[in-house]
Amino acid sequence: MFNKKQFGAEFKWGVSTAAYQIEGAHNIDDKGFSIWDTFSNQNKKILGNHNGNHACDFYNRHEDDLKLIKYLNIPNFRFSLSWPRILPSGIGTINQKGVDFYDRLIDHSMELGVTPWVTLYHWDLPQMIEDKGGWTNRDVVSWFSDFVEVCANKFGDRVNNWMILNEPMVFTGAGYFLGIHAPGRKGLKNFIPAVHHAALCQSLGARVLKSICPNANVGTTFSCSHLEPNTSSEKDKLATKRVDALINRLFIEPSLGLGYPTDDLKLLDRIYDYFLPDDEKLLPFDFDFVGLQNYTREIVTHSYFVPLLQAKLIKADKRNVPITLMNWEVYPDAMYQTLKKFDQYSQIKKIIVTENGAAFHDVFFDGKIEDELRANYLKDHIREVLRAKNDGIKVEGYFVWTLLDNFEWAEGFYPRFGIVHTNFKTQERTIKKSGYWYKNFLDNK
Ligand code: FCB
Repeated sequence: MFNKKQFGAEFKWGVSTAAYQIEGAHNIDDKGFSIWDTFSNQNKKILGNHNGNHACDFYNRHEDDLKLIKYLNIPNFRFSLSWPRILPSGIGTINQKGVDFYDRLIDHSMELGVTPWVTLYHWDLPQMIEDKGGWTNRDVVSWFSDFVEVCANKFGDRVNNWMILNEPMVFTGAGYFLGIHAPGRKGLKNFIPAVHHAALCQSLGARVLKSICPNANVGTTFSCSHLEPNTSSEKDKLATKRVDALINRLFIEPSLGLGYPTDDLKLLDRIYDYFLPDDEKLLPFDFDFVGLQNYTREIVTHSYFVPLLQAKLIKADKRNVPITLMNWEVYPDAMYQTLKKFDQYSQIKKIIVTENGAAFHDVFFDGKIEDELRANYLKDHIREVLRAKNDGIKVEGYFVWTLLDNFEWAEGFYPRFGIVHTNFKTQERTIKKSGYWYKNFLDNK
């Protein structure tokens, strides 16, 4: 077995959440609607027709939930700010009640000695901005910068750790290309401009933040999967390269000054149509840390049937491997390989694993949840982080996804990722075995 000490005293341990997935209170205290309020309240968009209107009611229960974090010995808490709770129209008038909520959350957290780590954008775009074109409208860059300015001015006196965007590849890909996430738009004509504007917001948001809070620890987060070709054929290898450019390299490389990976991904060529003269210079930003979010490995095969990309992923349940409820393969080595891959970018100063976790079918028995599979998943992945660290890879933190079972986007409340169980009828919380495992691990001084 390994213990916490082996990671060093400076290593950041935490737990991650996101506003829309836990807060609920969707129409309380003058909050504006987000694209997720709209999308999840439409028929048949979300599994089981669920929506996040009430979610975990974290808006009203955050004091108790913070105590739970404290009880679990978790020193760092990652949460996101709901843009339409703070600016109901996306721009303009500030909603003081929304600011008050985050003030309470930050203050209570700090009173308990739990350090806040704030994500500025975790997918809940104000609906009024979407009505003006959302991420496809270039103006989103200045609207987002204004939002960042408000947040830095309001909370920057207490919050030191910031993340600009959560997984831009997922919110542009699922939301503006595949249409399976809010706002449900499809096609390259939406995806390509959304990518470029999100990449600009990633760096401009960071600049705004640093200009107001020069000492802040500023990062941003990326979804990344370890990829392997299905066979050693040249076709599968090239297909893997294209998928890698799309899902792992698309947002990190422009931020590092390497530009978009257009050489390996021809479908991106049209992105230059959306460039203004100075954009090349605006895309890079020297982040203090990069947040990596890895859950699995993917196997890639060449496919003539997928237009432009000519590649597809072989679903885990077709591969005879252990899987989670998301149909993601359980493959801890993926964590090590991902850290190693990103470590090779010499421009990255520090890596923090800002999400990792698993959804399994939990069974309540005798008032307890013995979620052995989740506890093992966490142990096995944390062990891989240690292996990476011991190999000299610059990984300096690990955050579990997630504290509470919550609203898992298109999958509704079905996949439970929490180390704490949520009873969605009574809002009762029950710490799972995985939660006790993390608590004991973190207690080991
Ligand atoms: C990530 C998201 C997070 C959660 C996990 C399971 O892609 O950032 O909100 O849904 O996956």
